[in-house]
Amino acid sequence: MPKQKYIKPIIIRHASAGMANKFGRPLTAIPTQRIEGIQIQELAANYGSPLFVLSVRELRQRYRELHRAFANRYPNFQIAYSYKTNYLKSVCSILHQEGAWAEVVSGFEYDIARDLGMPGNQIIFNGPYKKRDELKRAFIDGAIVNIDNYDELNVIESLADELGKTLEIGVRLNMNLNNPPWYKFGFNVESGQAYDVVRRAQSSGKVKVVGLHIHAGTYIDDLTIYQKAAAGILQFYQSIRNQLGVTLKYWDLGGGFASRNTLHWAYLPGEQTCPSYSQYADAISSTLMSIGLPPNEMPRLFIEPGRALVDEPFSLITKVVAEKRLPSGQRAVILDAGMNILSSVQWYKYGIQTVQDSGTMVEDTVLYGGLCMNIDVLNANVSLPQVRFGEYLLIPHVGAYNLSQSWQFIFLKPAVIAIEDGEVKVIKRAETREIVQAAEELPDDFRF
Ligand SMILES: Cc1ncc(COP(=O)(O)O)c(C=O)c1O
Repeated sequence: MPKQKYIKPIIIRHASAGMANKFGRPLTAIPTQRIEGIQIQELAANYGSPLFVLSVRELRQRYRELHRAFANRYPNFQIAYSYKTNYLKSVCSILHQEGAWAEVVSGFEYDIARDLGMPGNQIIFNGPYKKRDELKRAFIDGAIVNIDNYDELNVIESLADELGKTLEIGVRLNMNLNNPPWYKFGFNVESGQAYDVVRRAQSSGKVKVVGLHIHAGTYIDDLTIYQKAAAGILQFYQSIRNQLGVTLKYWDLGGGFASRNTLHWAYLPGEQTCPSYSQYADAISSTLMSIGLPPNEMPRLFIEPGRALVDEPFSLITKVVAEKRLPSGQRAVILDAGMNILSSVQWYKYGIQTVQDSGTMVEDTVLYGGLCMNIDVLNANVSLPQVRFGEYLLIPHVGAYNLSQSWQFIFLKPAVIAIEDGEVKVIKRAETREIVQAAEELPDDFRF
């Protein structure tokens, strides 16, 4: 028998808090092998890694639950999905199938909505920078336009002259609701600026204020902010109705609802702190309903959720491409996904799940992304079993902002697939170098 090669033993210190206990395995050591019934390893083998995976069932279900929570409490209610959160065509279109309108903040997003077949009068056009020709088209299409600043009002008044009609607008408000308040957008209520702009707009005869809009921030898990926002908009409406004769067609409470992800600075996990849809609906609608109008005279209530609809239905499959030990003794694992495709790692301490059975011995591990950049850390300290080169991990709840904010940097962007009723559909092909360089030119003078 040939002499066996000597292998130097390695002593690994395992975190006692992560050892299997009388309840069984630590959570990260319970493998998640399937998404919507399909083996994760099979998905990665067929579509590559990293890979974004959408559960269409969960997306539809979340929309329906959110809609039900508000429609049960408010008579005239409509969701407008915030495109910027994830404007993959399939995501927007599935939500439109379910009944969502579109909320867009640029001509680019407006075009996506129109291309998908959304009629103009089911598009809400927000944002601080809308170009004149985009505004013109929006008014011609009958879109809902919420104005952000006086310069925009001037442009819209000149469009009213050009189009020869009075244009209906909504006014975006900001209030001292959270810390720091979102004063960048719209007109301030407390200082009287919001009242002034409504008076100025009404007196011109060129525009008519028919809506009020507020969006106080994102990942707001404090329900009192919504109660204060609703109370503030209600009080503001009462003053402009009584003093300026404004009758609202709608009020729009924006988005901002939290998902079940955990923020870096949060004390408790997001699973425990994220309010339910019903709690958000209660906070907003009970205040607005106190206006005491008959149901058929209530202004339509819009909300513009993004994160709370699309975060949970998406997961990211990623592969271990290397493991190493840091001088501190901490174990490190390098993944094939980085912050270029997971920009929300700035805010979230993402949960991590194993895919294969890697045993029950867990150890505090730092998860690095694959970018050649020191800041590319996906989780600075996660209790993980001994995942090895070539094994997969799953990062759940990655649907909000990552796909729309991802950067083309160092690596090509991965594919996105959607699964419904056991059927897999590619909704975005993996990027190729041809796609990335399609807009580039190499002038002859620069060739070597
Ligand atoms: C005007 C407006 N509406 C809706 C949203 C969606 O916010 P969230 O994804 O937090 O629901 C945003 C994003 O910040 C926004 O700016």
